[in-house]
Amino acid sequence: MKLFPIAATMLLSAGLSASAATDKAVVTLNDSPFATDTIMPEIYGQFAEHLGTCIYGGLWVGPDSPIPNTDGYRNDVLDALRDLKVPVLRWPGGCFADEYHWMDGIGPKENRPRMVNNNWGGTVEDNSFGTHEFFNLCELLGCEPYLSGNVGSGTVEELARWVEYITAKDGPMAALRKQNGRQEPWKLKYLGVGNESWGCGGDMLAPYYADLFRRYSVYCRNFDGNRLYRIASGASDYDYSWTETLMKKIGHRMNAISLHYYTCRSWTGPKGYALDFTPDQYYWTIGKCLEIEDVVKRHAAIMDVYDPDRHVALLVDEWGTWWDEEPGTVKGHLYQQNTMRDAMVAALSLNVFHKFTNRVRMTNIAQIANVLQSMVLTRGDQMVLTPTYYVFRMYVPHQGARVIPCHISSKTMEADNERSASKRKFQTISATASEKDGMMTISLTNVDLENGCEVTVELGNTDRKHVTGQILTAKNISDYNDFGKTEMISPRAFSNARLSGNTLTVKMPAKSIITLTLK
Ligand code: AHR
Repeated sequence: MKLFPIAATMLLSAGLSASAATDKAVVTLNDSPFATDTIMPEIYGQFAEHLGTCIYGGLWVGPDSPIPNTDGYRNDVLDALRDLKVPVLRWPGGCFADEYHWMDGIGPKENRPRMVNNNWGGTVEDNSFGTHEFFNLCELLGCEPYLSGNVGSGTVEELARWVEYITAKDGPMAALRKQNGRQEPWKLKYLGVGNESWGCGGDMLAPYYADLFRRYSVYCRNFDGNRLYRIASGASDYDYSWTETLMKKIGHRMNAISLHYYTCRSWTGPKGYALDFTPDQYYWTIGKCLEIEDVVKRHAAIMDVYDPDRHVALLVDEWGTWWDEEPGTVKGHLYQQNTMRDAMVAALSLNVFHKFTNRVRMTNIAQIANVLQSMVLTRGDQMVLTPTYYVFRMYVPHQGARVIPCHISSKTMEADNERSASKRKFQTISATASEKDGMMTISLTNVDLENGCEVTVELGNTDRKHVTGQILTAKNISDYNDFGKTEMISPRAFSNARLSGNTLTVKMPAKSIITLTLK
């Protein structure tokens, strides 16, 4: 595989030799009174599945654990996640959701039946983390719960009763909840009607799933002022016909449809290791990651046909990097380390989601702890914060802010495309901007491994006097934070941004992510 920087008309750099150079790029903010779209905080959503050590060991150690905890939840992880202002947490799966029977996860722990987690390594699940433990966690984090209901192997009655158990004030399910220690109903907004119903969630065809969705919608009711936001199980990556069928048949009945897009070579085949990759493989990752823009655009265009007023949202409720499991870890537990390459994928993906605020109203990176592109990794009583975690922390000011559209002119590169003979082309600079409470936030990414870039940001008609910043970068793109070692990657103060009138000049090092705050 070979990477070729290409001589396009947009190419602003003079030097493309192997030696390091400083490129130039221009980012123009196109703010206008009509730019009113909000970056929904839910775009920064998380996902926690009963998979590997995401729940057990990652979030939950139980109240009797020697690991410092609050009612069973790890204190170190809780503290770290609070700084991310997690807006929504999806649970219990993933594929696990369609084999999960919620009644097994309530009541005295010693009476809870065990089950085999067939999707994920055949691990025995003791159901000690169930509905109450999940909703209490959401309360501790101050986030919305997002339940993925079992459609694949459950019944309409089972899911209908789960909703009743959680949200009803009175009645037999409410009585059971009270008996289990929770008097007041919880609020439940986000209800996923199945997960990957075309695959692990039941291997269904789209028209059949659409009919099922209608049945579930009837019986999953709104109790006592609770209002469900019903999410149809959507397509994976390039399956546009699934979206088309669902929009045609049930577009008027659902609040949202999901989409899963992983930055990986194939869902089932070899993917390469998180810590071991060549520059060509790195650039392949960048190209694949950025292809999500085209994928979202095409799903959104289909939705526009059936829902021109954009009532139905597109939720990318699983995304992120997916590498081969780290050698020496349990097969089926999807444990992977997280490098500066993963941080790049996080920043680039978030920048893309900000471009589709009129359709993309939630996304959930997979997953929150110890699985795929995690925020935190735990081992016994130790925890590390991943480079991806730091991107999410640097991007907090974008949550709930008004997006400012931007145009970018920078060097382009291209990388191999396993799906076609033509290469994937991408710009080396990516940018996003937003404004909230009088503060402007600009995030910039330079994916080039060799060359720095002087980025001129034309701010337009705005009156800014002061700029501060943070940078995330690494000596090597494969650097990562490891247990018991000095942290290699974390944000540092960045002072190489100069404000002159309405022009900001930013000197970006190679492979860096910068967030600037302008007041
Ligand atoms: O995140 C891992 C798995 O990927 C999820 O369980 C499933 O929905 C998807 O295939």
